[in-house]
Amino acid sequence: MNDYQSALHPAGPFADRLGSLWEIFLFTTGTVWLLVLLFLALAVWRGSRRTEPDNSEEGTRISTRWVSGALVLSTLILFALLGASVAAGRAVTPNEADVATREIRVNGHQWWWEFQYTNPRADRIVTTANELHLPAGERIRLVLRSSDVIHSFWIPNLHGKHDLIPGKTVNFVIQADRPGLYRAQCAEFCGLQHARMGFIVVVEPRAQFEKWYARQLLPAPIPKTADQQRGQTVFLGSTCVMCHTIKGTPAGARLGPDLTHIGSRLTIGAATLPNTRGHRAGWIANAQSIKPGVLMPPSNLSPDDLNAVTIYLESLK
Ligand code: CUA
Repeated sequence: MNDYQSALHPAGPFADRLGSLWEIFLFTTGTVWLLVLLFLALAVWRGSRRTEPDNSEEGTRISTRWVSGALVLSTLILFALLGASVAAGRAVTPNEADVATREIRVNGHQWWWEFQYTNPRADRIVTTANELHLPAGERIRLVLRSSDVIHSFWIPNLHGKHDLIPGKTVNFVIQADRPGLYRAQCAEFCGLQHARMGFIVVVEPRAQFEKWYARQLLPAPIPKTADQQRGQTVFLGSTCVMCHTIKGTPAGARLGPDLTHIGSRLTIGAATLPNTRGHRAGWIANAQSIKPGVLMPPSNLSPDDLNAVTIYLESLK
């Protein structure tokens, strides 16, 4: 997937505008570079054919004219690029009158992302982590904030970067038109695991998005098999509940990611590992060996308990 995390493969109008700006810059500066090389080669070639330096008045007049001309042209090109840049900046910053269809609160944590789909009705609010689902073709208002240090929200396929500043909330509008999977990345150094602070953006047609949303509104499914039941008992009886929420169970802490539908997510550890049974087990056993400095402490579960918990989490679709 060459467009998995790429500003050069826009999947929405804002990234498209920024992509065009990049093409204008590339074409203009590339042409200037080629012209400079051409004139340099010409000068070397002419110089090598000359035996004496040209100090005549006529020679000086000609070179002064060329240098002044190039200076004026460079200034004009730089102003044109400035104009293009300002115009693109305005185009990708919609004003308040632009109606966004929904609002998602984005909270940056060291080192993971919390997404909350707001709704006037409390029972319609969805909270998830490290995976942002968006309906295609809709304008979405993001409300960005940080709970610790400065992070930067960046989905290269959809838009430019935007900082998350502690103590401040800022609005940011995005829109995705092309359904697909895109990787996003924290773009501001925020500590040891900054590089492993990614998330996955899932852009779906409206109907598919609504299906996902309806499912996320439900409490966690009741464990069915013996392994799932054992996993839930172990989960609820261990330190897991001091940081995580699983809706529909007594686990309701907010320090770490909400796990109510962890089984439906593609990755764990903020897009660090694929969400497979083996990776989950390794993460629970000792997340520190995968992402040193993360708040998740190592666990001392027996192999059977560990296995049961990973199976239980898998069932939380
Ligand atoms: Cu968060 Cu870098």
